[in-house]
Amino acid sequence: MCGIVGYIGWRDAAPVIVEGLKNLEYRGYDSYGVATGTDHLMVVKRKGRISEQTECVAKCLGTRGIGHTRWATHGPPNDINAHPHSDCTGRFTIVHNGIIENYAELKRGLESRGHHFASDTDSEVIAHMIEEAWEGDFPAAVRAVLPILEGSYAILALCADSDEVIAARKRSPLVIGIGDNEFFASSDATPIVAYTRDILVLEDGDLAVMRRGSIAMEHGGVPIIRKTTYVDYDIEAAKKGGFAHFMLKEIFEQPDVFQQSFRLAQKHPEISSLLSHAHGVSIIACGTSYNAAMLFRYFAEKECGIPVRVDMASEYRYLSTPSDEVVIAVSQSGETADTLSALRKASSCNCPTIAITNVQGSSITRAAEQVIYMGAGPEMSVAATKSYMAQFAAFAGLLSGMNCNNGTSSVERSARQAIEEALLTDVSEAVALCVKASTLFYVGRGIFYPVAMEGALKMKEISYIHAEGYAAGEIKHGPFALLTEDTPVIAVCLPGDSYQSMLSNLREMKARFTPLIGIGYEDDVDLQDVADVLIPVPKGDTYAQVAAVTVLMQRIAYYTALALGRDIDKPRNLAKSVTVE
Ligand code: M6R
Repeated sequence: MCGIVGYIGWRDAAPVIVEGLKNLEYRGYDSYGVATGTDHLMVVKRKGRISEQTECVAKCLGTRGIGHTRWATHGPPNDINAHPHSDCTGRFTIVHNGIIENYAELKRGLESRGHHFASDTDSEVIAHMIEEAWEGDFPAAVRAVLPILEGSYAILALCADSDEVIAARKRSPLVIGIGDNEFFASSDATPIVAYTRDILVLEDGDLAVMRRGSIAMEHGGVPIIRKTTYVDYDIEAAKKGGFAHFMLKEIFEQPDVFQQSFRLAQKHPEISSLLSHAHGVSIIACGTSYNAAMLFRYFAEKECGIPVRVDMASEYRYLSTPSDEVVIAVSQSGETADTLSALRKASSCNCPTIAITNVQGSSITRAAEQVIYMGAGPEMSVAATKSYMAQFAAFAGLLSGMNCNNGTSSVERSARQAIEEALLTDVSEAVALCVKASTLFYVGRGIFYPVAMEGALKMKEISYIHAEGYAAGEIKHGPFALLTEDTPVIAVCLPGDSYQSMLSNLREMKARFTPLIGIGYEDDVDLQDVADVLIPVPKGDTYAQVAAVTVLMQRIAYYTALALGRDIDKPRNLAKSVTVE
């Protein structure tokens, strides 16, 4: 979480940094700040969103600077806790993404030696520690501080007396763009690609000293050279393109995304083969990516008979890791801290590792042995939609290579068609019921259980209505106590092996006067009979059904949040990339 941007070169730094931070706002948006340097440092920081800032950074002059957009971890969002943070003298200022785990102890020591702290943050200790370590050499002072910091960090630092920007990284993402006599540092490449596509990705333990016209890299104090990579990035795809919200635009991109991602995964027959012959497959992921992984579990177990374990990445460290399991880490951003550390645990247990991600050069791509790119294009809305579809398509593509599903071309075509139809289906009656609710249940059986979990996650994160995704068979074992005439249930009820049980579950709910939104076939008379509202799903294979129901649920969540006036692309308290554990 938190986005950081730095610049040194020949342009005015503040506008470059402000524009860059706007691109990183998906990482956190409760406060922001910018510092620039001439012969002294100018710092401006505010509670609120950088995208809403007017001219307050205009007084930040100079051609070197750093900036930050925050997702609060230590101390509430306010002007004081916003970054940059400075030392007692104002000579040094830093921005930080990550968590300094030993900050309390460090802060006590610094205070006992006379340092005064302005903020509640963990990050501020870094500025004071640089102040203490300084003997006239800025890089040497930063170098001396880093080994004392426990936890994770991407740091950018300025010193009033040195015409340099220093960058350091440990377990939080940081890249540098190499321009023409100018350097850009950022949490990811998005703020940089408008200026240069030559990107250097810092490794854990790296420190970079950027000066005018030169950059010096070191790792653990030893000079090194890191290669740059050329980043392919579609700048237009990261704009709203006439849609009211990124989320809506991204929902509408899904027919193409499914196709693209399915085909990209098919280019990895060696991975399909590895999975086909594995003793077991273990998938680690968080949030929406976890729900996508659960889809693979149901398909792979049913169609290929392969045992698949799916774990929340945050819990993986507490569980056993058999070395004969192939481990797949799924992450849109490729930077989710829990997924990364779970992947590292799997590697350390000698498991073959695969990453499925949407972001080139992200940390996960360097931690895994093999990588499948999802090809969804930049996803700007905090709520994941097209990336979930891309993950589903990637799994479908891998399954097609395992020769256990019903053929490449039919899955690709049928899913695409189903998504297109679901984009046009009227969901307004369902939305009308949801808008009035304070609690919702999403239920399904079999493959539609993870689809229900994802539907509920979408609803809660953007509408703030409490929504739970449940296996329909489980709902009698407790949640039934919550069902009333004010608790709508959204139920997936489609022909297949779970159909009759689903119908029985729905009748049991109906007997409790629960408003039922059935998602199923339009001509299903039994479903018509029990459901208050029927949202039709186009007929097709299971892949097409999953794709269509997913889109319908995304749209129900979107229009409910819209009706409630929520901040759809930037929901409260959330950030797109969760880079702290
Ligand atoms: O980048 P990742 O896929 O690793 O992110 C994992 C979750 O943080 C993410 O899917 C989150 O649940 C989404 N905001 C949900 O829409």
